[in-house]
Amino acid sequence: MIHTDPSLPTEPARKRRDAGRRRRLIAFSAAALGGLVVALAIGLHIPVRAAGSAPAAAQRQSWMAKYHRPAAIPFPASDPYSRAKVDLGRMLFWDPIVSGSRTRSCASCHNPGLSWGDGLPRAIGDGSETMPTRTPTLLDVAWVPLLGWDGKAHSLEGITFTPITGPIMNRKMAELFAALAAIPGYRQAYAAAFPGGVIDRHHTEEALATFERTIVASKAPFDRWIEGDENAIDEAAKRGFDLFNGNAGCAECHSGWNFTDSAFYDVGVGKGDDIGRGRLFPNSPKLRYAFKVPTLRDVARRGPYMHNGSEPTLAAVIDLYDRGGIDRPSRSELIKPLHLTAGEKSDLIAFLKTLSGEPRSEPEPTLPR
Ligand code: HEC
Ligand code: HEC
Repeated sequence: MIHTDPSLPTEPARKRRDAGRRRRLIAFSAAALGGLVVALAIGLHIPVRAAGSAPAAAQRQSWMAKYHRPAAIPFPASDPYSRAKVDLGRMLFWDPIVSGSRTRSCASCHNPGLSWGDGLPRAIGDGSETMPTRTPTLLDVAWVPLLGWDGKAHSLEGITFTPITGPIMNRKMAELFAALAAIPGYRQAYAAAFPGGVIDRHHTEEALATFERTIVASKAPFDRWIEGDENAIDEAAKRGFDLFNGNAGCAECHSGWNFTDSAFYDVGVGKGDDIGRGRLFPNSPKLRYAFKVPTLRDVARRGPYMHNGSEPTLAAVIDLYDRGGIDRPSRSELIKPLHLTAGEKSDLIAFLKTLSGEPRSEPEPTLPR
């Protein structure tokens, strides 16, 4: 039986992309032809408008139109926003009471000062054990449909107890609820957030998930440019943006304002036992070594990179894409050697650096005791 992955782009979608690439090629050849006409015209002293640059500017404008930020956070109808849930979720997020050793909170690894990651190549669990993957950022997590590097979890509510009861925190659920119920401040906070105020799995999931949905990347220089401030980013970054959307093909996967199509690909990284989404779809050759496309918000601050922390710097990531990663059957067709010049590589990095917003000042809550 062949398992298809609904989160992967379908064949028609791929064809549309390929058609898009062909159209771009045609556009580029048309631009080149335009240049020739201009050169001839100049030779013949026929006055013409500056041809070459107009299509390039129009192309950039049409790319820019795809990067506007959404107006509101999508809270699901099954777990709508409330201030009381956010307040409770924030306390739980910072409280080491959720870990077996009582020393580790969600914020120990999803640290707001480190763009909601931990800066480590791979996370260190409650028993000092190295986890198989790096801690992902929680920026814009409200828009991530499938959670985890392999997309095994279907909602923020659904993933809540994976870290708590697993090796990340090693806490027994019943013991956690008993410990919370013994603290008057938590009894009040659950009562304020939920009718009846029961301290249970369901309410704990809703509170943490609602808080996490409020973790939204702050505006970056890139956003100000998209909104019309031509001086918000420099020329190198603008050239990098053109490459990102054009010849380097990055936006094929890192698409839209949060820089991800939320799908899973093998970009030619990682060769150990961790086959990512392939674990869930063992019969799908393209999902071997496929991991989720991460957001690129705040990316310059979030090294080391990739699901296994294998790339120490942005320059190393760009070199990896330039080589095309490990050539193997599972590797995405969208990944191939790019042959970028040194100038193009530094333009891409200049662009990626414009995606860092002001760090959000996230006051640590006072923990009820
Ligand atoms: C020891 C470090 C550590 C701690 C503590 C921790 N996490 Fe994580 N978190 C991770 C790692 C590593 C992953 C990736 C796991 C995977 O993909 O299998 C992750 C993934 C996630 C994701 C999925 C994000 C995405 O974009 O796919 C969410 C949501 C999350 N954690 C929330 C929490 C919450 C809530 C807590 C506290 C209850 C918590 N984490 C505690 C390391 C940690
Ligand atoms: C085929 C889809 C695809 C294309 C094309 C692509 N990426 Fe990625 N990108 C991914 C995936 C998937 C990951 C995570 C891979 C992993 O961890 O194993 C990733 C990871 C990254 C990371 C690391 C982010 C982090 O938090 O670890 C950066 C930076 C990045 N890509 C930039 C780029 C740039 C720049 C380009 C163009 C040169 C590009 N990507 C092209 C899919 C893609």
